[in-house]
Amino acid sequence: MNRGLENIVIKGLGAHVPERVLTNDDLSKIVDTSDEWIRTRTGIGERRIAASGEATSDLCVRAAQLAIEDAKIEAKDIDLIILGTLAPDMLTPATAMFVQHKLGIKNIPCFDFGAACSGFQYGLEISRMMLLNPKYKNVLLICGDKLSSVTDWQDRTTCVLFADGAGAVVLSREPGCQCGIVDVLIGSDGEHSDILSIPAGGSREPASEQTIRERKHYWRMDGREVFRLAVQKMGESMVEILERNNLTINDINHVVTHQANIRIMDAIANRLAIPPEKARVTLDKFGNTSASSIIITIDHYRKCNVISQGELILTAGFGAGLTWGSAIIRL
Ligand code: ACO
Repeated sequence: MNRGLENIVIKGLGAHVPERVLTNDDLSKIVDTSDEWIRTRTGIGERRIAASGEATSDLCVRAAQLAIEDAKIEAKDIDLIILGTLAPDMLTPATAMFVQHKLGIKNIPCFDFGAACSGFQYGLEISRMMLLNPKYKNVLLICGDKLSSVTDWQDRTTCVLFADGAGAVVLSREPGCQCGIVDVLIGSDGEHSDILSIPAGGSREPASEQTIRERKHYWRMDGREVFRLAVQKMGESMVEILERNNLTINDINHVVTHQANIRIMDAIANRLAIPPEKARVTLDKFGNTSASSIIITIDHYRKCNVISQGELILTAGFGAGLTWGSAIIRL
């Protein structure tokens, strides 16, 4: 199934979250909510919020530098940058261009892609396809979002969820290595595009006084429908990727799903009989950081010596689109 795609390894991994902590109590001073409501309904305790002058690319650059350092290479060794974001610095040029410049790299191809919170799985799939071409040796995949810039801070149903952060991995081909990307599965269904979107600011509804007045530059979400489809699509995708690789949850050391809501994670854990000691959660500390949440979580547990090299990780994500994906990685 993976013919030609073996031995594509994560050579380096890094994550970055802003310094500023916004607690649930802080939020309860902005909107009508409480620490108790947010913790029990979402599992979030606090989140990190970027400074006003900071852009998505600034978060991405820091994560990229850490991944490059972890890979024991230099920025000049990167030959392709792929960046997944839903909160780009600008509509154009691509945020990857700003990252390239800030990393001091020139002349290599760089582009953004939009798969929302499934960006890690989509990015892995794109990266490993690009690595089939021998001219690419070190691909830098970055997922980053300053979600606070598209969050309606007057809407208690969404503003308690979202946070800022970035994660990056350096992917390379290493023949003979026992580690690497075992498999990736991605999917989408545009029929559900209306349940999670930022309606204005694009070509359909360009920015105008009216769109600003109607707060259409921020998230609109049907929380219950997102919840239902997240459990269904992530769950199905995880079952399928395990089955097609002749693996069971017993073979997996760590399960890292998109950190959106603890009740979504619990529902999936029940469905797949995932033992609690295998489920990795950072939602309580960092909230929902979109596509970077999986990299941030792997990074966190690696630093705590809970995730070690050579272990098998099952990841899964879902996001606006609706997009979803899963990946099995041997770190
Ligand atoms: N504080 C206090 N009360 C609140 C809050 C809040 N922050 N938000 C909503 N409520 C109230 C509602 O107004 C409602 O009150 P009512 O009964 O008087 O009308 C009550 O709480 C229940 O509201 P529900 O929407 O039914 O709450 P639910 O239990 O469904 O939880 C939630 C809402 C947390 C949003 C849930 O639906 C969810 O997690 N959905 C998935 C969201 C998600 O993951 N989005 C991101 C995915 S994509 C990405 O990651 C970018």
